[in-house]
Amino acid sequence: MQAKLAKPKRAAKRKPSPPAEASLADDLIHWYERHHRRLPWRVGPRERRRGVRPDPYRVWLSEIMLQQTTVKAVAPYFQRFVERWPTLADLAAADERDVMAAWAGLGYYSRARNLIACARAVADLPDKRFPDDPGELERLPGIGAYTAAAIAAIAFDRQAAAVDGNVERVVSRLLALDEPSPGLKVTVRDRLRPIVPADHPGAFAEALMDLGATICTPKKPACALCPWSEPCRTRREGRQEELPIKAPRKTRPVRYGTAFVARRADGAILLRRRPPRGLLGGMNEVPNTEWGDTPAKRPKPPLRAAWVRTAVPVEHVFTHFALRLNVERAEIAADIPAPAGHFWVAAGALSDAALPSVMKKVIEAAYPGATKNQRED
Ligand code: ADE
Repeated sequence: MQAKLAKPKRAAKRKPSPPAEASLADDLIHWYERHHRRLPWRVGPRERRRGVRPDPYRVWLSEIMLQQTTVKAVAPYFQRFVERWPTLADLAAADERDVMAAWAGLGYYSRARNLIACARAVADLPDKRFPDDPGELERLPGIGAYTAAAIAAIAFDRQAAAVDGNVERVVSRLLALDEPSPGLKVTVRDRLRPIVPADHPGAFAEALMDLGATICTPKKPACALCPWSEPCRTRREGRQEELPIKAPRKTRPVRYGTAFVARRADGAILLRRRPPRGLLGGMNEVPNTEWGDTPAKRPKPPLRAAWVRTAVPVEHVFTHFALRLNVERAEIAADIPAPAGHFWVAAGALSDAALPSVMKKVIEAAYPGATKNQRED
């Protein structure tokens, strides 16, 4: 079966695939032409066929946002970013605090810091463009092997094997790779390379992502609808859901702390900025104690006031630990200045205040609706 996409204009050094691999790629791209997801950062297969290529800036931005985050969560953030900063030059010139505030809620904030560093690094290159070579891309801040390969393939039609969790699952099932992670990723990349086609590697990369997201799902894969159902070794063996082999789950330690939500009579909330590096680096927070292995006996509030503890602590799960924060709230007179290193943020400005999700939860626990930028009629 011949895929319908037109040949890309630039025929770089590309390896033709052996017949079995070529047919895998053709069948997948054929399926993609009919069943692709319409995503805001994408150029669909029909447009690709007309020679349209996606803007590397949009491809890069979407790939950074999609690291560890779902398509559904990313889509509105992506739209807001490209409306506010339509080009790489716009983002490179942006105020870091504005970018952090726009990122608030997406999590993994080192990605936002690297995003700014990367935009500025590319804007400083002689041609101010993203390189199209995976090795060069990987030297930029925040771009690892997967992201480099995904950008090279999707934006520049380079014959690169982009292996994320979804692709790892699809390929490990297709080839019945009984290897556990973390070694599996390298094996999958090696075994995928000869399957990546010389023609349309960008559409192939997107197709593989869609196959993993919509058909070859972790549970109950829809094998009857899969373009690779016939060559799939695990389907033949009837053990699709056994692969990829899951690494045993590590138990997450719990850390404890106390957060203080001070609300002024006009509704403003007391905040401070976290240090630029480390967890939630550069984001804002309500004052809170250190997060320790046991709850602090007498946590020290940032202001003298009649503090009242809320009934239920806030729980938040980070990658390496779970956090349990007791929340104390207090009403503060309107003329009380912010203590050193702190500032008041007006109630209406909280939704734009670079607050990570855990801090929004804390403020909401103390004063429900406070972060929602509500108008009071
Ligand atoms: N996951 C990672 N990158 C993606 C992309 N470009 N489209 C859809 N899902 C993805």
